[in-house]
Amino acid sequence: MFPEDAYEAARDAGVLEPGHLEAVRDELSAIRPMKAAFQSQYVRRLEGRHVKRTSNKAELVEQLREDIRDTLAAQECDRAVGLWCGSTEVHGCRRRRAPERGGLPSGARAQRSGHHQLALYAWAHLEEGVPFANCSPNLAVDFPAALELAEARGIPVGGKDLKTGQTLMKTVVAPALRARALGVKGWFSTNILGNRDGMVLDDPESFRSKELTKRGVLDSILDAEAHPELYGELFHKVRIEYYPPRGDAKEGWDNIDLVGWMGYPMQLKFNFLCRDSILAAPLVLDLALLLDLAARSGLSGMQEWMGYFFKHPMAPEGARAENDLFRQLSTLEDTIRALGRA
Ligand SMILES: NC(=O)c1ccc[n+]([C@@H]2O[C@H](COP(=O)([O-])OP(=O)(O)OC[C@H]3O[C@@H](n4cnc5c(N)ncnc54)[C@H](O)[C@@H]3O)[C@@H](O)[C@H]2O)c1
Repeated sequence: MFPEDAYEAARDAGVLEPGHLEAVRDELSAIRPMKAAFQSQYVRRLEGRHVKRTSNKAELVEQLREDIRDTLAAQECDRAVGLWCGSTEVHGCRRRRAPERGGLPSGARAQRSGHHQLALYAWAHLEEGVPFANCSPNLAVDFPAALELAEARGIPVGGKDLKTGQTLMKTVVAPALRARALGVKGWFSTNILGNRDGMVLDDPESFRSKELTKRGVLDSILDAEAHPELYGELFHKVRIEYYPPRGDAKEGWDNIDLVGWMGYPMQLKFNFLCRDSILAAPLVLDLALLLDLAARSGLSGMQEWMGYFFKHPMAPEGARAENDLFRQLSTLEDTIRALGRA
């Protein structure tokens, strides 16, 4: 939604040192963005300067599909994958009505009606038969009709919201606490970050989308139903504060109130001084390869084995997603081995 080429965008983001950027200046300068299908009601803190000129959802999907076909033709490619790394959208817009199975009768009808759940990029990818993963907390393919379409067309999909910093650490520490039967009364997590994502998340409605993906992980790991005496009273709070001086150098800070043997209280605190994009970029590259592998292996629909990469892994309706990082890693490795043998 901005006209700058990839070199200019990377320079302005200030993540990589000039020495790293200059080495690939020519390659990056050659990557020019297509116009975005952007609707400002979903991302209220940004104004697009390089956007498609229609607000009709059906037309936008058609234009995105054309972009995908043109890119494949121009690059002389047989296959592609799509990874959504756009801004976090506001929570409310697409969830007002419950997403019922079969709620979107057909792609064509959904497009024509501009259905509120029609996530433009995700739908365009599915219609073009391109595997798609959602690296943000947005809905994208998280509704039954999109999953039905992915299965019917034989397209693998994954998501959602990359697990990179604080949540990565949470899904390492929480299994250790559960393994030792240490109780948890409270878990307070806060972040400060000053990049564009931080600015977008400063809108409470965009933050709400992120809060939901960040908060879910503890429920499945510290199973309160199985251990009400240890985790039944857990108070879990997550905050994100936009703090421009830090730029991409994010700081995550966690305080955990523990309960040990005979009810004695303890505290654990950790402080992750990380770099948002340096943690995220390699996951995006891995996902591109794995999505393509999944498609070439004939897998379709939701790819639960990719949960290792995500804060809010996809799981079938009514099933509990696995959030323990080490179990997720085993599943990922087992699946890749099995695909290699097939
Ligand atoms: N460590 C991480 O970086 C990390 C981790 C987990 C999740 N995420 C999520 O990934 C997403 C991207 O993060 P980021 O740090 O790269 O954010 P960013 O703000 O740097 O980049 C997102 C870009 O998306 C563009 N955009 C927004 N709506 C668009 C549209 N409709 N069409 C085309 N472009 C559009 C904006 O121009 C913006 O530049 C966010 O949702 C973020 O929460 C990032």
